[in-house]
Amino acid sequence: MAFAVITGASKGIGKEMAIILAKKKHDVLLIARSSKELSELAEKLKKEYSVNALTLPLDLSGSDAAKSVSDNILAQKLDIDILINNAGFGVWGAFDSTKLDEQLNMMQLNMQSLVSLTHKLLPYLKKNKQSYILNVGSTAAYQSMPYLSAYAATKSFVLSFSRGLHEELKDSGVCVTCLSPGPTETSFMERAGMKSQKIADAADKFGMSGEAVAQIGIRAMFNKETEAIPGGVNKLTAFFPRFIPKKLIERTVGNLYKP
Ligand SMILES: NC(=O)c1ccc[n+]([C@@H]2O[C@H](COP(=O)([O-])OP(=O)(O)OC[C@H]3O[C@@H](n4cnc5c(N)ncnc54)[C@H](OP(=O)(O)O)[C@@H]3O)[C@@H](O)[C@H]2O)c1
Repeated sequence: MAFAVITGASKGIGKEMAIILAKKKHDVLLIARSSKELSELAEKLKKEYSVNALTLPLDLSGSDAAKSVSDNILAQKLDIDILINNAGFGVWGAFDSTKLDEQLNMMQLNMQSLVSLTHKLLPYLKKNKQSYILNVGSTAAYQSMPYLSAYAATKSFVLSFSRGLHEELKDSGVCVTCLSPGPTETSFMERAGMKSQKIADAADKFGMSGEAVAQIGIRAMFNKETEAIPGGVNKLTAFFPRFIPKKLIERTVGNLYKP
């Protein structure tokens, strides 16, 4: 069985995707920074689903990270047919009160690392008759988001890049899907530093489980969909802004996300 390379596999949506693929008897290469969490997950997948589960503890925001991944694949002579670019995070707050380093690190991980990994691993993916790339974007891609301004822009990038590449690669045997989750019960909000009751209440009301989001993403990937938005409310919030003046949307989102 070929391997699925999954970034951000130590927790949250990426971990759930690894479990779903292992249940389908797919071998996995798990990547994130937390080596202990990765090893524990790999042991569980090997024991419960009898798959080959490898780990690569790595900070993907490093400039040589994509090369390290492809060197690792080459050294271990791995056959890969799935790349899931899931690792990502957000930075919440008034832009000028956030740390510039953190914003740039986020842009590096959410965009540069995703593009570099895709570029480095495409030759391996093309060796198989059918391969898949699943990029994890966000419903933040569909409108500007005050107080998550740079994060939302990185996700617009992921969506646009994924759709363009889907069309470019349509005759290549590599299918590209973009998954755009809305609020999901993971450690995302904590990492983004979101300490707002208003946001927490909205997430409690509309949030989905990481497992449900992962299931929808993996299904969309194997169904060769271009874009998938999990959940009815998220579909509506992605669809309707195109009929409403942008200023109104931005003011409403700004009121919700204001620190
Ligand atoms: N949760 C939401 O509400 C939500 C909504 C829309 C979109 N998303 C997107 O979904 C994706 C997954 O997020 P999540 O919700 O599952 O959040 P999460 O629970 O915080 O998981 C993020 C994953 O990315 C990894 N990661 C973070 N920084 C990394 C780095 N520098 N190098 C390597 N790995 C790194 C983390 O592992 P380590 O910390 O071990 O490195 C973890 O495995 C992200 O792209 C996020 O933008 C989430």
